[in-house]
Amino acid sequence: MTVKSEILRLFEESDGVFSGQDIARRLNVSRTAVWKAIKSLKTDGYDIQASTNRGYRLVKSGDLLSEESINALLSDMETKPYILVYETVDSTNTLAKKLAVDGAPSGTVIVAEEQTAGRGRRGNSFFSPKKTGLYMSVIIRPKSDVSDLPLYTVCAANAVCSAVEAVSDCKPQIKWVNDIFLGGKKICGILTEATGNFETHMPDSVIIGIGVNLSTEIFPEEISSIAGSLNAGTGRAKICAEIIRRLMSVLSVCNEENIAFYRAHSLVIGRQIGFTRNGEQYEALAEDIDESGHLVVRLENGDRINLDSGEISVKLK
Ligand code: BTN
Repeated sequence: MTVKSEILRLFEESDGVFSGQDIARRLNVSRTAVWKAIKSLKTDGYDIQASTNRGYRLVKSGDLLSEESINALLSDMETKPYILVYETVDSTNTLAKKLAVDGAPSGTVIVAEEQTAGRGRRGNSFFSPKKTGLYMSVIIRPKSDVSDLPLYTVCAANAVCSAVEAVSDCKPQIKWVNDIFLGGKKICGILTEATGNFETHMPDSVIIGIGVNLSTEIFPEEISSIAGSLNAGTGRAKICAEIIRRLMSVLSVCNEENIAFYRAHSLVIGRQIGFTRNGEQYEALAEDIDESGHLVVRLENGDRINLDSGEISVKLK
């Protein structure tokens, strides 16, 4: 952790006032190092006030998204993620892929304030305006082959739901396979991609891209009837840190546990859905999610099939 992150953690944990000398002693660094870190935090936009007699005080952390603010919330993690925050990128997934090809380690997280070419599934774009959403991609070095890719999306969806539940009273639901809904609106999309040699079926890296609408109010017309925002009043760094923490945790637990959580948060199980397969339109009852993350549906003729990809439309009553 940098001195900046340590100072932020100190402020966040205590809400109090600390003299430069006190901070230096607690962090075991020089007073000059404290002074430099405070100066740099102020430049980053943190409102840190200093009074001659009492010391430094963080007036309000606002909603700053920075490497320090995220790291400060993850100081207790055993294996620390490597976090990179950018002002503007085309797509955090695209950048993550480049970094992965250049050798970035597992657990590298790319976060952006805005995306100019955010990408969704099936060539769709993902609306990513400045400051009102969370746009992040996590690089994982997988140990299994491409058949496990859908399970990364399951893990990401679980991580987002569990993070949202941890920081708010909201009860999000998962629309198979990669959308998170709240109150009938899509508040989050997940795009899982892989890099590597596909002849061997072993990906070099898996990129898990997560986009959450936190407080976006105005959406482009084509998505305005479906898109919504979390509006939980939680800072971006907090929700980002919680997603990272929970993603790392769910990736390490057994599949059964993850599928059970995913099922319990499913928006589609028990509902009539429509889906397209090989160009044909079908109606079916969504019955289950199997252990590979596939959607198990019962067709009108009674046949049961497991859908492993494709877009489905949920008929909400
Ligand atoms: C979808 O809804 O189809 C998936 C959307 C995924 C959006 C996220 S935002 C962060 C990451 N970077 C991207 O370009 N896409 C993903």
